[in-house]
Amino acid sequence: MRKPFIAGNWKLHKTIGEALDLAGALKQEVAGIDDIDIVIAPVYTSLAKVADVLVGSNISVAGQNCYPAASGAFTGEVSPTLLKDAGCRYCIVGHSERRQLFGETDAFINQKIKVLIEAGLRAIFCIGETLEERESDQMYEVLTTQVREGLKGISAEDMQHLVVAYEPVWAIGTGKTATDQEAEEAHAFIRGLLQGLYDEDLAEATRILYGGSVKPDNVDGLMAQQDIDGTLVGGASLKAADFARITRFKRG
Ligand code: PGA
Repeated sequence: MRKPFIAGNWKLHKTIGEALDLAGALKQEVAGIDDIDIVIAPVYTSLAKVADVLVGSNISVAGQNCYPAASGAFTGEVSPTLLKDAGCRYCIVGHSERRQLFGETDAFINQKIKVLIEAGLRAIFCIGETLEERESDQMYEVLTTQVREGLKGISAEDMQHLVVAYEPVWAIGTGKTATDQEAEEAHAFIRGLLQGLYDEDLAEATRILYGGSVKPDNVDGLMAQQDIDGTLVGGASLKAADFARITRFKRG
């Protein structure tokens, strides 16, 4: 049985004060839920304070990105070591906004995964095709490359510290969710890729999250799918009640 994993990506939203209000409200809303991993990813400037407020709670904190080095002359970057120091247990890597807006490659994302697992963090590794790729029948090829290159050199043991997030780019922030079947098909395909790269046990144990316009009113259908083990939520994670409802998805 894979433990459900519900993560909120706050992206570039919330001042420190707003982040603390949201984290405090969420802490109350989800108190007592102990059979799901709940993670939120605030902006860097509020990470340490949010992590402080959540100490001893059932919510873990994630960075939204990192640079693949412990320290050095890398102006403007933040390392996995520093994220851990700020109270993070997780870090998102390879989000499509990083790939598209900042030109991040599979090889660079692969380096980040290695360095952050080495630093003792867990990776939320994002992959997903664009609308153009889906419509031109390149989706499976794109997912295969992202998985194969992103996980190059990652051992089976290290894979225990990683969850995959399938986020079709056309569904992110657009209000257009993949249908339950579209999402399930992609998830089953990704699980098959993991089986090919590792083995069946590892593929069965790895959690694969869906992301892209997940909301309180569509989470139940998505979470009822066999290969969907959780969600990575953007917009709907900015309201405590909505995100809390997503963590309370209906069990099939
Ligand atoms: P969204 O974002 O829920 O606002 O579509 C998801 C994500 O980018 O992780």
